[in-house]
Amino acid sequence: MTDNPSRFDGKVAWITGSGRGMGRAHAEMMAARGADIVLHDVLQDEVAAVAETVRALGRRVIVSTASVTDLAAMRALVGEAERELGSIDILVNNAGIGQHLAFEDITPEHFQRMFDIHVKGSFFCGQAVIPGMKARRSGRIINISSTWGMVGANTASHYCAAKTAVLGLTKAWAKELAPWNILVNAVCPGGVMTEMPIRVQGMEKIREKEKKIPLQRWAQPEEISEAVTFFASDEAAFITGQVISPNGGEVIVGY
Ligand SMILES: NC(=O)c1ccc[n+]([C@@H]2O[C@H](COP(=O)([O-])OP(=O)(O)OC[C@H]3O[C@@H](n4cnc5c(N)ncnc54)[C@H](O)[C@@H]3O)[C@@H](O)[C@H]2O)c1
Repeated sequence: MTDNPSRFDGKVAWITGSGRGMGRAHAEMMAARGADIVLHDVLQDEVAAVAETVRALGRRVIVSTASVTDLAAMRALVGEAERELGSIDILVNNAGIGQHLAFEDITPEHFQRMFDIHVKGSFFCGQAVIPGMKARRSGRIINISSTWGMVGANTASHYCAAKTAVLGLTKAWAKELAPWNILVNAVCPGGVMTEMPIRVQGMEKIREKEKKIPLQRWAQPEEISEAVTFFASDEAAFITGQVISPNGGEVIVGY
């Protein structure tokens, strides 16, 4: 963390998938910088542990263990947050799953689940917070995509497609919501050391991949949180519809 980071005092941030990994890091960093937090993950014990950390930082917290695919539960969570904490200022659409599958092995069920969590979930969590943000004429939405959504991969084409769709809705919302000063951006991490890739790919493969990264390593979750909190900060007040890709130099795109 930087010595003098932006503060989020008086703000409320909702981070989906915040029970572990990057979502947890985003929640803890925003709480450390003054935000009250709407925590949300299907992993009950994990999200309860993060809630303890957030409370220990002196911040207020609301917890949900409903799936991001349960749209009614997500709308109810926003209602509860507004009653308990106030209107949500920052939404980070982070919840996600990884699946390494060859094209031929992806079933309609795999495809549906991938799109339900990443695309439908992000879309309707966004829709649920929009009325409050419009009323305040202020809001930040940060959608978590992936380098794989930018440049593809030789596996998991349903994941790549879902992450590219997340970039599409980011750009459209940025234009549609700008009149209400609601800024929408995306973060496309490269490899990050979390449960998801360690479980799906294994450490041996990850160590091989790290050697091919210009910076010779994958990121720690907190390094991605710095990009997310930047988009949520006052310093990013003129930035919307953009993509930051913290990826150690693995993917470098021009104009
Ligand atoms: N780790 C990487 O290398 C990497 C790279 C690029 C992008 N990403 C993306 O970053 C985001 C965070 O991933 P991570 O690496 O921290 O993974 P992770 O598995 O550690 O965390 C993801 C969290 O989302 C939660 N989640 C999954 N489905 C959910 C649902 N239906 N409802 C609510 N919560 C749900 C999980 O329980 C988990 O706690 C994901 O969107 C992922 O696709 C990860």
